[in-house]
Amino acid sequence: MRNDALERIAVTTGDITALPEAHAADAIVNAANESLLGGNGVDGAIHRAAGPRLLTHNQTLGGCPTGLAKITPAFDLEARGVKHIIHTVGPIWNEKEHPAPGETSENEKLGNTHEDVLLASCYTRSLAHATRENVKRLAFPAISTGVYGFPKVRAAKVAFGHVWGHLSRNDRPGEVVFVCFSDDDAAIYREIIATRDDWMLNRKRA
Ligand code: APR
Repeated sequence: MRNDALERIAVTTGDITALPEAHAADAIVNAANESLLGGNGVDGAIHRAAGPRLLTHNQTLGGCPTGLAKITPAFDLEARGVKHIIHTVGPIWNEKEHPAPGETSENEKLGNTHEDVLLASCYTRSLAHATRENVKRLAFPAISTGVYGFPKVRAAKVAFGHVWGHLSRNDRPGEVVFVCFSDDDAAIYREIIATRDDWMLNRKRA
């Protein structure tokens, strides 16, 4: 077990296609849809930055089911030191499937509903690709928290919990950076990391 995992996790605010030197990643994760043919949000930004060869390449992949991940070259993003793009498809949050607040089911409390499991799979599958490709620094956007409407705090806990677990057992990727698109979103990641013992051990905060 490696106990330096926590030091290998960073949080930053910015555009995942234009990371500053301090957080420059050799692999970036795309919050894609099942077609892998592009979209808005981070998907749109990555396709714009990688150029038309990415779309041409992805048209040969036959899509990607929700919760899974496919790795591609970075095409025009290679000029910025990015070698790989890992496309993963997050779950769409379906509010009406969730009991009203205060009536949460056990699964709900444990963060173990169908969407939580699919979102976790996006992170673990992306990390598995990064390990196989010997990635030094992997950048994640906040998967599913934009168009797909996943609650941000809940998604950040899924993201951090699975990244921390993976880095505790693996040397690769060397580092992970959570790239948030706003300071508010970055503050959510910093808060859940700072209070991990409370919510992970399900302790009420004093
Ligand atoms: N860099 C980093 N983060 C970004 C960027 C960017 N350039 N653009 C958007 N984000 C953030 C959003 O603010 C949000 O926090 O990425 C997170 C994920 O939001 P979306 O991009 O909307 O992705 P998602 O919620 O997973 O929905 C995926 O949206 O764009 C379509 O084709 C995509 O159908 C798919 C769906």
